[in-house]
Amino acid sequence: MRHRIAVVPGDGIGREVTPAALEVLEAAGRRHGFALDVTEHPWGCDYFVENERMMPPDGLDRLRESDAILLGAVGRPDVPDHISLWGLLIPIRRTFRQYVNLRPVKLWPGIASPVRDARVDMVIVRENVEGEYSEIGGRMNQGTDDELAIQEAVFTRRGTDRVIEYACRLAATRSGRICSATKSNGIIHTMPFWDERFAHATARYPHLESEQVLIDALAAALVLDPGRFDVIVASNLFGDILSDLAAAVAGSIGIAPSGNLNPERECPSMFEPVHGSAPDIAGRGVANPIGAIWSAALMLEHLGEADAAASILDAIGAVLADDGPRTRDLGGTATTADVTRAILEGV
Ligand SMILES: NC(=O)c1ccc[n+]([C@@H]2O[C@H](COP(=O)([O-])OP(=O)(O)OC[C@H]3O[C@@H](n4cnc5c(N)ncnc54)[C@H](O)[C@@H]3O)[C@@H](O)[C@H]2O)c1
Repeated sequence: MRHRIAVVPGDGIGREVTPAALEVLEAAGRRHGFALDVTEHPWGCDYFVENERMMPPDGLDRLRESDAILLGAVGRPDVPDHISLWGLLIPIRRTFRQYVNLRPVKLWPGIASPVRDARVDMVIVRENVEGEYSEIGGRMNQGTDDELAIQEAVFTRRGTDRVIEYACRLAATRSGRICSATKSNGIIHTMPFWDERFAHATARYPHLESEQVLIDALAAALVLDPGRFDVIVASNLFGDILSDLAAAVAGSIGIAPSGNLNPERECPSMFEPVHGSAPDIAGRGVANPIGAIWSAALMLEHLGEADAAASILDAIGAVLADDGPRTRDLGGTATTADVTRAILEGV
């Protein structure tokens, strides 16, 4: 079996953790009998500085040829973040209808959470193509006392239903518990609509134990009692914030993975660590590669290589549990290469 993988390492530590993930993927392929046709694309902020765009005009067409996309991270301090986001990540997510952003979070044995007695094993299902991250709005009277900015949130019935439906189906395969992040007390149009669609969907899954929690209370509960949650479904903005929070409760954002999924598989899905390009540590070879490696395992699962994906997760678990090398975000002194080597031994 061959899988065509488009790789966009991007910027900063994206260029350090993506090669680590590729090494692990190649090793998993040798052991589990599949091969990868890798096409690497040097797009991102460095490309922007030279070309005034984040990727070439036919970039999306080139990515479309692949079975899946593996991304590092984009972002550079001298390039405004909205350019890197709207010039690369958002067009990929929207063009390829990757409307589910799947973010598993777990506290691995051997990792100390900053939260006492934390039990964490959850998946955050974030709506990924609409909601608060919308292009609708504008600015007027810039630079004057009358300056104003308007940003419209866009919640469609189709977009809301399909992500909630995905989360319900996922919850049915896990513990059967689903929680919806809402704010219908303060945001009086879109959030009551979100609640109605959640109620509509969960009515079809009577076996699920469902609850909806206001986002502010949910943020507190994720710190105080993370073990209460299994599948959390959230809008684009709420899901973005909650997943970083949950990842921190589980020990470090450096180990958190994500998949941008097109569940219908009409287009390639994209897999990337939750973290950004971390300019503060880039170029030193000390970034934690586990978020990228776990994302690569999610990609293999999506491509039907479940055994290979499981062996990568086992290898990560063994390194973390056995007092293996740790990068400094986990309190150690190991390098990206040390951690990658240790994981490779277990794959
Ligand atoms: N999907 C993406 O490409 C993405 C996501 C988030 C942020 N960004 C971009 O990344 C840039 C930096 O953003 P930020 O600083 O807010 O977030 P960040 O995730 O890059 O870094 C936050 C903190 O976590 C640490 N950290 C992150 N990943 C780590 C890893 N693998 N190992 C060890 N430590 C790690 C960093 O050193 C930093 O102190 C910005 O330009 C931002 O727009 C990109």
